[in-house]
Amino acid sequence: MATSVPVLTIDGPSGSGKGTISRAVAERLGWHYLDSGALYRAVGLASAWEGVDLSDPDAVAACAARTDIRFENDEAGEPRVIVNGKDATHQLRMETAGAAASAIAAYPAVRAVLLKLQHRFRRLPGLVADGRDMGTVVFPDSPFKVFLTASAGERARRRHKQLKDKGVSVNLDSLLHEIAARDERDAGRAVAPLKPAENAVVLDSTGMPITEVIERVLALLPESLRRR
Ligand code: DC
Repeated sequence: MATSVPVLTIDGPSGSGKGTISRAVAERLGWHYLDSGALYRAVGLASAWEGVDLSDPDAVAACAARTDIRFENDEAGEPRVIVNGKDATHQLRMETAGAAASAIAAYPAVRAVLLKLQHRFRRLPGLVADGRDMGTVVFPDSPFKVFLTASAGERARRRHKQLKDKGVSVNLDSLLHEIAARDERDAGRAVAPLKPAENAVVLDSTGMPITEVIERVLALLPESLRRR
């Protein structure tokens, strides 16, 4: 039964390092990894490709239902996201895709379509699920929940570096602004707002090396689950 499959949920605001930490923890455990933000980004992108009106919740939800989203690794082992047969990895990382995702993520009908899809990622031996509502809405029964955060300045700097490493030049100040606006919308929406689950461990990673964050997250799991 799916519910007997362990899930570690890692939620938090943009640029908190969730993606890097979740991937690394999943790799260490040999578990599956769900990048739920990529699903919202992919629906935003597919809607734009199809000329769907992003302000029409029903139209976007219908688009979400017919969008094929696949996670793959290329020959170098790098993760790729394939949307309707096209490699959209690069486009999905843009802050414009993040903003579109954040806008359509406020629609309950879109969240309902993606909820079912997300549950399908829960497979043995376990799942590390990264997002905004993994611990509160998607996998509320999980006893292993982290809410990862960092100061706004540090999150903007990390995102800036991430984009720069990918060859995208952005202004740090405008990124700080965009991230703050996105967090405000994600935390302020009526459905599945960004907030720590009641039983989540809140981890502030400001100034903390990645390796330490990974160890702290892994330490939340019982020894029996940490053995591969
Ligand atoms: O994690 P990310 O930056 O790729 O997410 C992009 C947007 O998608 C985020 O601003 C809000 C939305 N999102 C969400 O509402 N729920 C999730 N579980 C994941 C992302």
